[in-house]
Amino acid sequence: MSVPLFDNATPLQPLRERIAARVAEVIDGGQFILGPQVQAFEEEFAAYLGVRHVIGVANGTDAITIALRALGLNRGDEVVVPSLTFYASAEAVVSAGATPVFCDVDADTRNVTFDTVRAAMTPRTRAIIAVDLFGFPAPTPELRELGVPVLEDAAQAAGASLDGRRAGALGDAATFSFYPSKNLGAFGDGGAIATDDDHVADLARALRFHGSRDKRTFEYVGYNSRLDEIQAAILRVLLPELDRWTESRRALARAYEDAGLGEHVRLPVVPPGAEPAWHLYVVGHDDADALIEGLNAAGIQTRAYYRSPLHRQPAMAPFAPAGLELPITNELARTLIALPMSAAFGPEHARQVTDAVAATLR
Ligand SMILES: Cc1ncc(COP(=O)(O)O)c(C=O)c1O
Repeated sequence: MSVPLFDNATPLQPLRERIAARVAEVIDGGQFILGPQVQAFEEEFAAYLGVRHVIGVANGTDAITIALRALGLNRGDEVVVPSLTFYASAEAVVSAGATPVFCDVDADTRNVTFDTVRAAMTPRTRAIIAVDLFGFPAPTPELRELGVPVLEDAAQAAGASLDGRRAGALGDAATFSFYPSKNLGAFGDGGAIATDDDHVADLARALRFHGSRDKRTFEYVGYNSRLDEIQAAILRVLLPELDRWTESRRALARAYEDAGLGEHVRLPVVPPGAEPAWHLYVVGHDDADALIEGLNAAGIQTRAYYRSPLHRQPAMAPFAPAGLELPITNELARTLIALPMSAAFGPEHARQVTDAVAATLR
């Protein structure tokens, strides 16, 4: 039996009819942009997260750009961001007119820490992006003690929590992606900004609509970046399933441990108080390439994450000064491998993958 890296289709099967009915409602209502579905989803997701405001936008990348501008960033301001993340976390900083400054991460949690962020701060630092990498909440509450706004990039962490508070409710603002492979994935692109700050929410709402609050007066140069009604209608069906799906992912993570995977590879370390969303199940091995090749040959899909960290990406060269040292990031980039993870997989998958890992490394 081959095992794909993700399976987001199987958990959707029982929801097909409800999704189709909601989409039909949108078609019959004839309102496709910023209508009742987006408003209802924003309220329901805000209640789920435990924040005052959610603002739906077109994707998770725009969510970061818009949130940074709503947090008051100006041209040339520095934003500390990890290099070990998806490209969008830093790309959005540049789109917002600011300057990304790359910091290192912790070898066990793969997330930024108070110390790695502090080491990258300068007098020009105006914000921090705390990425909840692979669905593990970053230590955002601690980072807020560093004295500048913290934007939590929770694109990979819908369903996670830290000390009983949801990922997405931990920073001055947070952003989500509803890209289809995410834990809460739409049927196309989508994203959201979450915040308790009324002023940030108001500005983000204006920025997503061309910088206008009333569609007549344009106060800022903004964006055309809205979550659309059909995606919001679908997300309203999926949101009540998120906690159940997250529990299944947590059970699979436990099953990997129970199957003895830790005897062969370095397992992720869950920080105290954290309940990860397990967006990806990422392990470490010194000969990652051989492991990937062996597992793929055995029909088990795996992938290196993130083999080229952002400070080594061509477009980020202007922001990667000579002498920038990110030793843990470089080491993790060389050794991390994502193994299959899905709410649709059970202990039999964990056993099969673990057996294949053992056989490959024998
Ligand atoms: C950590 C992180 N930030 C930002 C994004 C950007 O989201 P989107 O693809 O919806 O623009 C993604 C995923 O794609 C991501 O994984």
